[in-house]
Amino acid sequence: MTPPRRAFVAGATGYTGREVVRALVESGVQTYAHVRPDSSSLASWGERFGALGAEVDTTAWDEGAMSGRLLELAPTLLFALLGTTRHRMQAEQASYDTVDYGLTALLIRAASILSPKPKFVYLSSLGVGPRARGAYLLARHRAEEALRSSGLPYLIARPSFITGEDRDEARPGERVAAQVADGLLQVVGKLGGRKVQDRYRSTDARGLAHALVGLALDEARVNEVLSSDQLVTYGR
Ligand SMILES: NC(=O)c1ccc[n+]([C@@H]2O[C@H](COP(=O)([O-])OP(=O)(O)OC[C@H]3O[C@@H](n4cnc5c(N)ncnc54)[C@H](OP(=O)(O)O)[C@@H]3O)[C@@H](O)[C@H]2O)c1
Repeated sequence: MTPPRRAFVAGATGYTGREVVRALVESGVQTYAHVRPDSSSLASWGERFGALGAEVDTTAWDEGAMSGRLLELAPTLLFALLGTTRHRMQAEQASYDTVDYGLTALLIRAASILSPKPKFVYLSSLGVGPRARGAYLLARHRAEEALRSSGLPYLIARPSFITGEDRDEARPGERVAAQVADGLLQVVGKLGGRKVQDRYRSTDARGLAHALVGLALDEARVNEVLSSDQLVTYGR
């Protein structure tokens, strides 16, 4: 008999996170959608995730509290889909270092003490690697390194732009950049550069979530770094 599949999703309230929660529930996985306890939209997230069939978890972003909660829940899958933006970091006194790296690293350490070890899925970004430059890419490189050296089974996803008509947060710059890039890539694709097109083109949250959950549930897919083209062509 296969053991019950249980997922804990950090960053569940994000554009990608909420679709990952939906895809997990649709795949029959018992799903805990994490919402920060001081969220101003806690009640509406409770309703939204409850309607999907997921449980809401409001554990504080504190290492002791998070470790204790994960020991209780014993998830078999853990998703880290967290990240701040320039706009938000001013309002919240946060940074790529404290959120994109810091909260992901906290979660990795909390997950590392579990036995059996859960499979850890980290949503990183195109461009991350040892030669990455800039605070955003460097924070994500550090998070990737922390995961690789943690001993946890992992998947690291490096998508290009994640955007779509269904994105409710206004990110006009990002949307326009993705549209321009997708337009140029269509030309590249027509000229025979299909692989280049797949590598850099944008994805929407639903498509990305489908790939992340499918790969997470596939026991043969482990300790891999997934490039944008592998994510956009998943299931094709
Ligand atoms: N958007 C792109 O084009 C793109 C491309 C490649 C990679 N990525 C990376 O992929 C990740 C997910 O992308 P997305 O577009 O789904 O992000 P998103 O919609 O901005 O969601 C970010 C998530 O992180 C949480 N978060 C942010 N600041 C936090 C803080 N200080 N404390 C606790 N939680 C915090 C948010 O919680 P609240 O709802 O409570 O704020 C939300 O759940 C991001 O980290 C992003 O950098 C994005």
